[in-house]
Amino acid sequence: MKVLRTPIVAVLGHVDHGKTTLLDRIRRSNVTAREAGGITQHIGATEIPLSAIKEICKDIWNVNVVIPGLLFIDTPGHKAFTNLRRRGGALADLAILIVDINEGFKPQTEEALMILKTFKTPFIVAANKIDKIPGWQSNEGMPFMKSYAMQDEVVRQRLDNRIYELIGELYQRGFSADRFDRIRDFTRNVAIVPISALTGEGIPELLMLLVGLAQRYLEKSLRLHVEGKARGTVLEVKEEKGLGLTFDAILYDGTLRVGDRIAIGGVEGVIVTHVRGILRPRPAKEMRLESRFKSVESVTAAAGIKVVAPDIEGVLAGSEFEVVESDEDIKAFEQRIKQEYQEIAIETDEEGVVIKTDTLGSLEALINEFRELGIPIKKADVGDITKKDVVEASANRDELNRVIIGFNVKLLPGVEEEAAKYGVRIFTDQIIYSLIDNFTQWRDEEKR
Ligand code: GTP
Ligand code: MG
Ligand code: NA
Repeated sequence: MKVLRTPIVAVLGHVDHGKTTLLDRIRRSNVTAREAGGITQHIGATEIPLSAIKEICKDIWNVNVVIPGLLFIDTPGHKAFTNLRRRGGALADLAILIVDINEGFKPQTEEALMILKTFKTPFIVAANKIDKIPGWQSNEGMPFMKSYAMQDEVVRQRLDNRIYELIGELYQRGFSADRFDRIRDFTRNVAIVPISALTGEGIPELLMLLVGLAQRYLEKSLRLHVEGKARGTVLEVKEEKGLGLTFDAILYDGTLRVGDRIAIGGVEGVIVTHVRGILRPRPAKEMRLESRFKSVESVTAAAGIKVVAPDIEGVLAGSEFEVVESDEDIKAFEQRIKQEYQEIAIETDEEGVVIKTDTLGSLEALINEFRELGIPIKKADVGDITKKDVVEASANRDELNRVIIGFNVKLLPGVEEEAAKYGVRIFTDQIIYSLIDNFTQWRDEEKR
C-alpha cells in the first residue's frame, strides 16, 4: 500500500540569515535564544501539523491538501558544518534557501545552492529580514503582498532592487528565478518569497507555496510514498530518567514499530538491537529541546522520534539505522555504513592532537577545520574525554600536540588530574569557533 508521508523540508542558508528564527516564528518558540553563541551547531527537527500551517495561512489558504504536515529540518549555517548541511540536504524532499535580503548571496548560500543542485531538491528562496529595509513599515504576520502594497513607493523600489539582485545571483548559477507572484510555471522557475522571520510577514505565502510544491510535484513521485523498510538518522544519544539510554532520530522512510529489530552504526562497528519503545515530541516542538514525549506503538516517516533500545552505549550520533529482518540485511547495512565512514575519512597521523566531540557531524566539522589549518590529528572520536585520551595525547613528541580538543563533551572523573600529571592541555567549548580560536591562539603564542 502506498501511503503519502510527511514531506521533509530542510532550511538551509548562510550563518545568521535567519533559519532558526523562521522556524521559531512558525512553531511559536524561541529556540534561537537558547543556542550557545547564537549559532546552530546540530541538525534540528520539528513537525508542523497541517492545522498549524493552515492557521498561519488562513487569509490566503486556497489549496486542497492531503499531506499530514511538514517536518522541518534546521541546519547550521556556520562554515564548519558543511557535512550537516549536506546531510540535511540529502534527507530533504524540499528546501527553503534563506538569504538575508540586505546581505545577498554569501559563501554558505552558494554552498547550500550547490547541495540542492546535487540532490535535485526543489526549493523556494526566502528573502529574509525585509523589516530591515530602510523605511519598511512592519505589519505583524501579514501576507507579503498585502504588506508590500501598504509601503511607500520608494521602499517598494528598494525591495524590488534587492530582489532583482537575487534573481541575478541565481541566474548566474543556472537558475531562472522570480518573485513568486510573477511566476506562472513553478516547475521551471524558482520562487523568491520576501519575508521577515521576525514579524512574520510573507510567511503565509512561503508556507502556501511549500505545501503546494509538496502536493503538486511530489505526490506522484515515489519519494513521498512510504516504502517498506524503516530507515533513519541518529541525531543524538541521550540518557533519559527512567528509560536509560535512548537515541533521538529522524525517521525518513518506512514505518518503525515497537519490537522491530534494528541495526545502527556504532563506534566499534554495527550494533544490532531491538526497539523497546518509541516516543514522539508534541507537534511544533523542536526535538532537541522537547521534554514531554508521548509513547507510541509505531510511527510512520517522516518524523522526529526518540527510540528506547537496549545495548546502545556505542551508538554513533550522526549515523544511520534501519530495520533488519535477516543476516543478509545486517550484512548489507554493514557494507553501506562502512562506505559512509570511508567518506568521512578519519585518517589519523602518528603525531597530533586528540579530538573528542558529541556527534559524528561535529567530529567531521572539526576534522575538516583542523586539516585546513594544517594541524595533525592523532585521534578523533565521538564521546567524553577519558584517561586513555590523556595518555594518547601525552605520547606526542611535540609539546604543541599534547592537546585534547573537546566539543560539547565532558571530562570523565580523574581526567583533569591525569592531564596535569602528564602535561596535557585540554580545550573544551560549546561553540565551535571559540574552540578553534582559543586553541589556535594558544598554539601561536607557544610557537613564539
Ligand atoms: P545559524 O543557524 O547560526 O546559521 O543562524 P540562523 O540562520 O539560524 O539565524 P538565526 O535565526 O540565529 O538569526 C540570526 C540573527 O538574525 C538573530 O539575531 C535574529 O533575531 C535575527 N533575525 C532573523 N530573522 C530576522 C528578520 O526577519 N528580521 C530581523 N530584523 N532580524 C532577524
Ligand atoms: Mg540557526
Ligand atoms: Na544564528
